[in-house]
Amino acid sequence: VSVSLKNSYKDDFYIGTALSASQIEEKDAKEDSLICTQFNAITAENIMKSMFIHPEKDKYDFTLTDKFVAFGEKNKMFIHGHTLIWHSQLAPWMEKIKDSTEMKAFMKDHITTIVSKYKGRINSWDVVNEALNEDGTLRPSVFLNTAGENYLIDAFKLAAAADPKVDLYYNDYNLEEPAKREGVIRLVKKIKAAGGKIDGVGSQGHWKLNSPSLEEIEKSILAYSALGVKVAFTELDITVLPNPWDLKGADVNQNFEGNPKMNPYPKTLPDSIQTKLAQRYADIFKLFLKHKDKISRVTFWGVHDGQSWLNDWPIKGRTNYPLLFDAKLQPKKAYDSVMELK
Ligand code: XIL
Repeated sequence: VSVSLKNSYKDDFYIGTALSASQIEEKDAKEDSLICTQFNAITAENIMKSMFIHPEKDKYDFTLTDKFVAFGEKNKMFIHGHTLIWHSQLAPWMEKIKDSTEMKAFMKDHITTIVSKYKGRINSWDVVNEALNEDGTLRPSVFLNTAGENYLIDAFKLAAAADPKVDLYYNDYNLEEPAKREGVIRLVKKIKAAGGKIDGVGSQGHWKLNSPSLEEIEKSILAYSALGVKVAFTELDITVLPNPWDLKGADVNQNFEGNPKMNPYPKTLPDSIQTKLAQRYADIFKLFLKHKDKISRVTFWGVHDGQSWLNDWPIKGRTNYPLLFDAKLQPKKAYDSVMELK
């Protein structure tokens, strides 16, 4: 057996990666071999989102999702479905759903069709993604605005009815923030109290070098697992670049795109930051290992830096270094630091 993330962590939790449309469709041999050597779980980065999988009311497109699932099965990977109900990357026709009756009919058709289609083949689903505001209250969306707060309960019930054995997750970001954490706790309790099935909480894990703190990450792991659900880290990456909303004073008024201040390392990442990133990943994985009995899966949001969404978000055209493999598919210092823990 070769030395790899998935082999080193095989007794602890799945090690996953997100796959872009091109990684599913036009396979590059080198990328493919990295994916298959290092990872034993996959999530589709975009193709299962509503605008792609259900572009029109009476039209589903399973061309790429079929390929994605077949790839996972061929390589005996854990296959995660992302995501059934989300306010973003929503098919335009869905935005026009106007009342509760129409919304309920939509949710029944959408969730039942997709979950049944991959019943027994997909291992877990993000049933609802990003339904909470930062203060832990429910985020306004076409779902909330038409069907009311019980849409969440309905979504989990519909998914469980379509595939009783698949693991069902609530997924969101900033889940280490105390107020949002409390919101998740309320949500999980509410779904369970209403007789819904929820098996896990997914923390996206779009993190920074210095936040969230290990203490808050640990508090969330403990709080969610105390509810009797699994904890997964579902979209892990660590940005090394400034976020526009973190800037103060004069910088706030700048035009960020193309501003060199916002893209400080266009060619290579300085050694000092490379080292910081490695230390941060080591700290995080050490904590994950401490709680491996509670953690089902750790998935990176991308295979390598060259393909990361953080090169284009929240500002386009930057060079970010958030993952364990660089744009040339070579393992970084952060990879070594995660491997050295084992
Ligand atoms: C991102 C993808 O990585 C991008 O390619 C796409 O343009 C936007 O969405 N939270 C989620 C993911 O749940 O689906 C998002 O993925 C990143 C934030």
